[in-house]
Amino acid sequence: MYYSVLVVDNNSEVLDTTIKELSSRGLTIFGCNSFESACEKLKEDGSVHAVLTEWSLPQSRKNGKRVEGPDIFKKFIALRNEINIFIYTDITDIITLSTKGLTDGYFFKEDNVYDDIVNKITAAIEEKSSAPFYEKLVKYARKSKDSWHTPGHASGNSVKNSPYVKDYYEFFGENLFKSDISVSVPELDSLLHPVGVIKDAQELAARAFNARHTFFVTNGTSTSNKILIQTLLKPGDAILLDRNCHKSVHYGVIIAGAEPLYLMPSVNNKYGIFGPIPKKKIIQAMDDAIAQKKKLKAIIITNCTYDGLIYDIEDIVTEAHKRNIKVIVDEAWFGYANFHREFYPTAMAAGADYATQSTHKTMSAFSQASMIHVNDPDFEDIQDFFMENFNMHASTSPQYPMIASLDVARKQMTMEGYGLLSRVFKLSDQLKASINSLEKFRVLEKDDLIADELKDDNIRVDKTKITIDISKSGYTSKELEHILVKKHNIQIEKTTFNTITVLLTIGATYSRINRLYLALESIEKNAGNRKKDSGSAKIIKDFKLSLSPIKYRPRFAFYSESEEVPLRDSLNRVSTMMVTPYPPGIPLLVPGQVVSNEIINALSMYRDYGVEIHGLNNGLIQVMPKEEEDRLIKEGFSIMS
Ligand SMILES: Cc1ncc(COP(=O)(O)O)c(C=O)c1O
Repeated sequence: MYYSVLVVDNNSEVLDTTIKELSSRGLTIFGCNSFESACEKLKEDGSVHAVLTEWSLPQSRKNGKRVEGPDIFKKFIALRNEINIFIYTDITDIITLSTKGLTDGYFFKEDNVYDDIVNKITAAIEEKSSAPFYEKLVKYARKSKDSWHTPGHASGNSVKNSPYVKDYYEFFGENLFKSDISVSVPELDSLLHPVGVIKDAQELAARAFNARHTFFVTNGTSTSNKILIQTLLKPGDAILLDRNCHKSVHYGVIIAGAEPLYLMPSVNNKYGIFGPIPKKKIIQAMDDAIAQKKKLKAIIITNCTYDGLIYDIEDIVTEAHKRNIKVIVDEAWFGYANFHREFYPTAMAAGADYATQSTHKTMSAFSQASMIHVNDPDFEDIQDFFMENFNMHASTSPQYPMIASLDVARKQMTMEGYGLLSRVFKLSDQLKASINSLEKFRVLEKDDLIADELKDDNIRVDKTKITIDISKSGYTSKELEHILVKKHNIQIEKTTFNTITVLLTIGATYSRINRLYLALESIEKNAGNRKKDSGSAKIIKDFKLSLSPIKYRPRFAFYSESEEVPLRDSLNRVSTMMVTPYPPGIPLLVPGQVVSNEIINALSMYRDYGVEIHGLNNGLIQVMPKEEEDRLIKEGFSIMS
């Protein structure tokens, strides 16, 4: 394996000797003689794994002003969070060197310690580049032990000679079967009570993702969200949540018996895009909840959004913490953010208490593999309760290759994430330029994407998500999606009525982006003068949601008796289910919510347009029987009373 180190020193003699000595010992060494040139190198070159720097550096070759100690380290870390920093200096008085815990080691120049430097730097890089769980799993699988335990396929023996299903073995391969093993193997630790290699792997992940603790989850961020909500909220506690959050958050609220206080997302009607919640509204909602004496314990924000809009998260965290409210950030789509300064600060860097990430969505982990990162200073007080909730949701037979994939995904991002993401940005720029060279397609910029009310919110756009305006193409987005799949073998991520969105992950290639361009070019050519408006355009253009009150906590409504009534007869009744039209995918009703005239009209409109509505079956919705309501009111469970 090759490790590379940046040596920074303005004494050219020292610099040359150090480069020579360290290179001769097997490391790849780059040299810089000023603070600025070192910063440039770190920005440009994703291959640098560690820095060996003098305590004091000139700002630049021209400007003799000096930058010292923590100011150097902080900047290096701001540029490249994952690098190791070692001091190499003439200064002996360690007490004067306040490193603020930002460095990994110290060497005194006159000690002539090149071997020591190489050993210590190599050890630090080797530690972060290890994948302890994955390595142990591979070793175990290679031992080919006779297994007298689950799973039933016994390393594939049950299928590999079968005349009927041996293709199953051949397709997935020997290694998958051999590494799909049982929790009965103690040396591979237990996800539900990690004390060995899983714990080691989680600790490395915590370090890589800037967290105090990290937990691996094998049922996706859907489960991670539920675990956190159930841990932080007791029945009757309140949580602020985006009405447009992922449905796992709504389910978490039901499970926890919490009171949901909804925040309405901004809506860009022109393109049918639901974006961040304006900062002012978030702060106002916190204050309103406190004024109403709600037991407001947490807020959950989705960052970045599905369309790649990034919040100014630091401010929101600060405001929430001022009010003693815990912050959970759903980073399902943003796990890689910690590995490129373009995205800083992430939830963890901004001081949020928890972040949930679908490592599988944007990094190299297998589907369902997710992480919970913890930064909450009070976590130790609730850690046992958290683990109990974790156990409540987890399978007692987690998939070991999936756990290994989390370990490897973290290793990969630590070692080459910055370089991979920098490459994705280049690909993204190229794709954007090529699409914009067409007449009928255009990549949307920030100002196109965000609603007016967000103009002052310092929202940024994640370049790895590209949303294309297709309104001039003459096709609806569904038609276009169909052509791309059927004719060009290209599957896109999502559509609105006049946009398509593609996701560039670290697996993107020039071949892929150019094939997408060629497909759009061919569609444009063949479209001629087609003019067609999408019928569903009106649905989103007309989208306006003013919510009716929540009368009972969702959990009460969810578990109450329920009866089916025609939608038109449901005025003022209380829904016991979520009712969600797709698109836009935002629930118009949640359990416990009063059915208003406006909601009946909106659902009728969606139905008339032929939109798929989950929770509305043959014009019937589920509501709470009157007697059940009387009982809940009598027992004092109405939130409105
Ligand atoms: C914002 C958000 N949170 C959570 C999830 C659930 O993630 P997972 O698929 O890992 O369960 C999704 C899935 O699309 C999502 O969009």
